[in-house]
Amino acid sequence: MPQVKIGVLVSGSGSNLQSIIDNINLGNINGKIEVVISNKENAYGLERARQHGIDAVFVHPKEFKNMEQYDEAIIKELKGRNVDLVVLAGYLKILTSRFIAEYNNKIINIHPSLIPSFCGKGHYGIKVHEAAINYGVKISGATVHFVDENADTGPIILQETVKVEYSDSAESLQKKILKIEHKILPLAVKYYCDGKIEIIDRKVKINMEE
Ligand code: GRF
Repeated sequence: MPQVKIGVLVSGSGSNLQSIIDNINLGNINGKIEVVISNKENAYGLERARQHGIDAVFVHPKEFKNMEQYDEAIIKELKGRNVDLVVLAGYLKILTSRFIAEYNNKIINIHPSLIPSFCGKGHYGIKVHEAAINYGVKISGATVHFVDENADTGPIILQETVKVEYSDSAESLQKKILKIEHKILPLAVKYYCDGKIEIIDRKVKINMEE
């Protein structure tokens, strides 16, 4: 398998980005991060990229009239580096259908709950965990999935659970789930880069033997 060129989109601290960088450096992933792009100039994820000699690009939303033009600018940055896998690692903007069409079944997202619970519009960051705690679920977890036209509804690649204790707060649950995210996101990227992932009627099959 040729090495996969990866583009990562971040909006925050980039700890998920870091988990991919670390796994690439350990030789676990047959891929190379060509660029990290953010909609936030001060996103620490951009700093993490710079620390590892990876192109870090801030694309300023205010410089564009609408989401379509904004996404065009991002697609240009990705295509300009021949990126063929896009990873959303805590990226908080909704992608336009143009972006999704351009990278059909080549965009992977990490969501901090067991989809289809606590996902979709308005469910991001700590809000996801507040909803889980308020509902009183006994397990939660993280989901890695392909991105399709709607929010958090694409084919699921990997999920992993955590136990929710009565004493848990949204913050303590977030901490537990972040650990899981840092495990299953790089693993999903690894499987993708190894050509092990197949989508059959919107269900994902991971061909371990390949
Ligand atoms: C993670 O909890 C992720 O699930 C959510 O946003 C957070 C990003 O954290 N989408 P980081 O920027 O990767 O540290």
